[in-house]
Amino acid sequence: MSLTNAPDPEIRKAVVKQDLENVLHPIVQHTALEKNQMVVVGAQGSTVRDYDGTEYLDAMAGLWCVNIGYGRTELADIAAEQMQQIAYYPHTAMNFPAARLAEQMNGLMGGGYHTYFVNSGSEANEAGFKIARQYQRHEQKPGAFRYKTISRYYAYHGTTLSTLAAGGMGERKGKFEPLGGNEFVHVAAPTCYRCPFGLEYPTCELACVTNMESTIQGEGPDSIAEILIEPIMSGVGIAVPPDEYLPAVAKLCEKYGALLHVDEVINGFGRTGKMFAHQHYGVKPDIMAVAKGIVSAYLPIAATVVKNEVFNSFLGEEAAMRQVMQVNTYGGHPAAAAVAVRNIEIMQEEKLAERAAENGKYFMDGLKTLLKHAVVGDVRGKGLLLGLELVKDKKTKEQVSSAHVGAMVAFCKRQGVIIGRSGGGSRHSNTLTFSPPLVITRSEIDRIIDVLDRGLTELGPQMQA
Ligand SMILES: Cc1ncc(COP(=O)(O)O)c(C=O)c1O
Repeated sequence: MSLTNAPDPEIRKAVVKQDLENVLHPIVQHTALEKNQMVVVGAQGSTVRDYDGTEYLDAMAGLWCVNIGYGRTELADIAAEQMQQIAYYPHTAMNFPAARLAEQMNGLMGGGYHTYFVNSGSEANEAGFKIARQYQRHEQKPGAFRYKTISRYYAYHGTTLSTLAAGGMGERKGKFEPLGGNEFVHVAAPTCYRCPFGLEYPTCELACVTNMESTIQGEGPDSIAEILIEPIMSGVGIAVPPDEYLPAVAKLCEKYGALLHVDEVINGFGRTGKMFAHQHYGVKPDIMAVAKGIVSAYLPIAATVVKNEVFNSFLGEEAAMRQVMQVNTYGGHPAAAAVAVRNIEIMQEEKLAERAAENGKYFMDGLKTLLKHAVVGDVRGKGLLLGLELVKDKKTKEQVSSAHVGAMVAFCKRQGVIIGRSGGGSRHSNTLTFSPPLVITRSEIDRIIDVLDRGLTELGPQMQA
C-alpha cells in the first residue's frame, strides 16, 4: 500500500476490516473501535496523521511517552546501522550501546548507580521488586524477613500480575484477583484535592505519611523490603504531593531499613521539568524504574536503575549465588539501546526538560483561565504532566458522570486534539490529562486551551445536570 498517494477510502476500509477480524486491542472495547477508528500512518512533532488525512494534535504523546516528539527519522537510521552491525546478543555479554546508555543513566542520576535493562515499565518495576527482595535477603539481620512492598492506593505501576497487585486501582485488577499473598501493602495516597483524611495541606501535617508509618509499624518493620512511589502520580488524575512528602517518605525508608523505589516510567526524562521527578525533592532513590521517555517509544527498552549500595550486594563468588537471579531475553537490546542513547542526547541538546518546565508553566496558566467554568474544580500538575478535574459543583466536588467526561474527550478529538482522561479509581476518573511531547509549541498549547474552553462552554452546563 502506498502512503504517498491520496488516501483511498476502500483501502482504509480494508485495513479496518483486516484489523477488526484479527486484532485483539488493549483496553478499548471493540464495539467502540468499530465506530471510532483511527488508522495512524504518520506523525511529526506533536501531530499524528490518520490514513484518511485527518491530523490530530496529540496532547498525550501517545501513552505519555513520545517525549522528543514524532518523526525523528535519524533514530531509524541509528537503529538500522546498529542492526547491520549486531542486532542482538544476550546481555550476559556486553555491547557498545547498552554500556553507553547505562553510563548516561548513571550521569543523569549524578553518579553512583548501575542499570539493569528490561523491555517495559511493568518489567522495570517487577525487576525492582525482585532486586529489593534479593537485596534484603542478602543483607537482612537475623530474625528479619523483608519481602513486602508498601505502595499507594490509586497508583498504577504496570500490567503484569505483580505490578497490578502493587498498584492501587480496583477496576484494573478486579478481574484478576486474588493476586498473590500479602506482599503488597497499600496506604493512602497524597491526593490533596480529595484528601483521604478529609484534611487540608498544610494543617494536615502530612497525615498520609503518618498513615504510612503506622502501617509499617503494624506490618512489622522487619518485613518491609521497600516503599514504592511514583513521585507525581499520573494515573490517578495527576497528583502533585506537597514538597515535604517525598523527603518524609525517604526518611521513613532510612528509619525502617526499607529501600526507596521510585517509579519514573511517566515522570522521567524531562516530563515534569527536571530529568527525573524525584530530583525536585532532593532525594536519592535506591531503585528507579524507567521506560517510555528513555527512548521516547521509538523502540521498546526500559530499565531498573539501582544505587551502588544495592548493586554491591549482588557481588561475590559465583558459588554464593548473589548475582541478579533473572534474565530478560531482550534486555540491553543493542538497537533499542542505540536509539535510547541518541534520544537522551537529543533531550540534552534541545534542553527539553527545561522547555517542559517553561512550557508547563505556560500550559498551566492556560488551564487556570478555565477555572472560570463552573465545572472545572481543580487544575494541577508539574512541567508537562497536567490535569483538569471536572466536578458538578466546586464546593461539594461531586464528580461529573463518566459519560460527560467521555463527551468532552470526544469533543476535543472532533476538533483535532487528543487528550487523555484519568484511568485512576472510579472516584477520580473525571480528570482530563495532558502529557504532550516536550517539543510542543506555545501556539499548540494555545490551541488545546481554546478547544477545551469551547468544549467546556458547550458541554459544561449539561455536566452540571
Ligand atoms: C507509572 C507507570 N508505571 C509503570 C507503567 C507500565 O509501563 P508499561 O506499559 O511499559 O509496562 C506505566 C504505564 O503506563 C505507568 O504509567
